[in-house]
Amino acid sequence: MIRATKSFFSGIVGLILTIQGIYASDFPLFPPIGPLPPVTIPADNPQTEAKVELGKKLYFDPRLSGNNWISCATCHNPVLGFADGLPRILGGPTSKEGGRHSPTIINTAYNDLQFWDGRAATLEEQALGPIQNPNEMFETLDNVVRKLSGISEYVKAFREVFGTGVTADGIAKAIAAFERTVVYANSPFDRYMQGDVHAMSESAKRGMDLFQGKAECIKCHNGPNFTDNKFHNIGVPPDGPLKEDLGRYNVTRNESDKGAFKTPTLRNITDTAPYMHNGFFPTLFEVVQFYNGGGGRSENKSADIHALNLTGQEVNDLIEFMKALTGEMVQIKYQSVPLAFPKVPKNF
Ligand code: HEC
Ligand code: HEC
Repeated sequence: MIRATKSFFSGIVGLILTIQGIYASDFPLFPPIGPLPPVTIPADNPQTEAKVELGKKLYFDPRLSGNNWISCATCHNPVLGFADGLPRILGGPTSKEGGRHSPTIINTAYNDLQFWDGRAATLEEQALGPIQNPNEMFETLDNVVRKLSGISEYVKAFREVFGTGVTADGIAKAIAAFERTVVYANSPFDRYMQGDVHAMSESAKRGMDLFQGKAECIKCHNGPNFTDNKFHNIGVPPDGPLKEDLGRYNVTRNESDKGAFKTPTLRNITDTAPYMHNGFFPTLFEVVQFYNGGGGRSENKSADIHALNLTGQEVNDLIEFMKALTGEMVQIKYQSVPLAFPKVPKNF
């Protein structure tokens, strides 16, 4: 009886999701892929034009770093898909290689959790991390506040936006507000889903069916942002200075999270090579071949990763589909704050 009720219920859910306009998914119970909804703005950090403008200035300002040399844009550069094009970061005072790949800022507004291991919940919480990280911008918040308080443009802008002097909280809120404007939408895939049948090539359309069928990508890369916002171990081989990266386990200490990383979005994926938490794969071809062969080796590998038996044509079709997920670039225009060395106020 319980089983009958359950299967009746899941039948209804499946039916509703199918009717919602998802084409030919073999896995109708996963949240359907489709155009992005509007960004959710947190109640305690409403967007205003002046705040976004201030966040943009801070984002591009190297004075947020210990040697006044590294800005957020050094590693999340708009012309490199808001990433850095490197397998792993080069940061800190000696440009030392770190263990992880810089993810893109594009569409981070849609992430439930930030970082490869999900250790920050919101963009506000995330923004102050890299400033203080010894391997990234190696600065203290006190020092940043002191430096920016010596620059009249910033003092004026903080007064206008927050009604206060320069504060760490304001820096985080303004940067997060700017990041929420970095949304690339209207990709060929989005236009196709909105009824433009010519927006995607025949190969991409076949790739979309494979994505939701034989290739099983939809099991993890689902919903409008192509991520379940969960963590999985797919067996990416170690590479770079870390012999082992335990990923999500470092946050939860659950054995089952060993080597698990956040499912990244696949939107704008053509802009953000190399791929994976450690930048192991230079191209999408190598990524798809990796999945096709059943992923990597790991004791803790997800049961959803297994050999796929895709033909050469099918591998190409999947790649063509992923290429159709790249949206329109957001043009960034801003007036930088003059790069004079700040006059540090006496009372600090
Ligand atoms: C030296 C390079 C570097 C600098 C500078 C840097 N980041 Fe990052 N950023 C990274 C790396 C690497 C990660 C992933 C780290 C991890 O997951 O452990 C990351 C992760 C992020 C994420 C999470 C994205 C996601 O999808 O999970 C956001 C948002 C972000 N950075 C914003 C910023 C902002 C804002 C600044 C400036 C205040 C900044 N970053 C400065 C390298 C950098
Ligand atoms: C079991 C869940 C799961 C399945 C199934 C899955 N992925 Fe992934 N995918 C992930 C996770 C987790 C990562 C990040 C892994 C890491 O960095 O260690 C990832 C990373 C990627 C990346 C790199 C993204 C980036 O920004 O670096 C691409 C591309 C990708 N997957 C495509 C696919 C395709 C195509 C399929 C189907 C053939 C697929 N995935 C199936 C969970 C999954």
